[in-house]
Amino acid sequence: MAQIIDGKAVSAAIKEQVRDEIARDGIKAGLAVVIVGNDPASRVYVNNKKKACEFCGIQSFEYALPEETTMQELLELIDTLNNDKNVNGILVQLPLPEQLDEKAVIERISPQKDVDAFHETNVGKIMIGNYSFLPCTPAGCMELIHSTGISVSGKECVVIGRSNIVGKPMAMLLLHENGTVTICHSRTKDLAEVCRRADILVAAVGKPNFVTADMVKEGAVVIDVGINRLENGKLCGDVKFDEVSEKAGWITPVPGGVGPMTIAVLMKNTLTAAKLQK
Ligand code: GUN
Repeated sequence: MAQIIDGKAVSAAIKEQVRDEIARDGIKAGLAVVIVGNDPASRVYVNNKKKACEFCGIQSFEYALPEETTMQELLELIDTLNNDKNVNGILVQLPLPEQLDEKAVIERISPQKDVDAFHETNVGKIMIGNYSFLPCTPAGCMELIHSTGISVSGKECVVIGRSNIVGKPMAMLLLHENGTVTICHSRTKDLAEVCRRADILVAAVGKPNFVTADMVKEGAVVIDVGINRLENGKLCGDVKFDEVSEKAGWITPVPGGVGPMTIAVLMKNTLTAAKLQK
């Protein structure tokens, strides 16, 4: 039976560190969160970010724009925030409504305020291994792996999913810690066989219960990035928890695993931004 990795506890410890440093050094930090439209999941995330800011002593500025917002309006807001001294970090909640060009929006954010680390400049820095802003979800996964006490160095690491937000930067962070990394995706041949090699398996597919026990090596560390809402309203990960937890050595639950980590790393990045801009 796998040991459960407690994302709530690990994220709470990170937020406490951020809070303590801000209080100790009297740092003034501000995070602007922009949400466009009425996506209910986005609304939940944005509310959680606001709560985390309050906990850490970070000032939060929220901009809730209507669904029909134009590109020009959004870019003007970003320009204003780029020039606002009280705003150290800018986060535009994704996904955006169809008429808005996500890539152009991200590129407009000043790289020094890009606390999501989505801007090309920051993505490039992550690739090289010389970065200030951590990619939030992948860095959260790394913290969870570290919490097991297992070293990544020399391990077989398999990442399922190749998104710019999770899969690709996740692979880079594992590589920076000397893992032997394979990225799998929808065209991968014999996915189960590749996954079974993994000492550390990270599932970022976006499909409920995609990873089954036959795809997991005995004793592996299994990190489940998926947050899928089932028809019955329940949340479920990309990993079939009941059977995989019988075989894995360590596993993250959903909810309470990777989810809370993303916001904790965001708080850390906002503090970093404030210190760099001082
Ligand atoms: N939508 C889902 N996750 C994220 C995230 O980490 N950052 C932003 N900006 N939007 C998201």
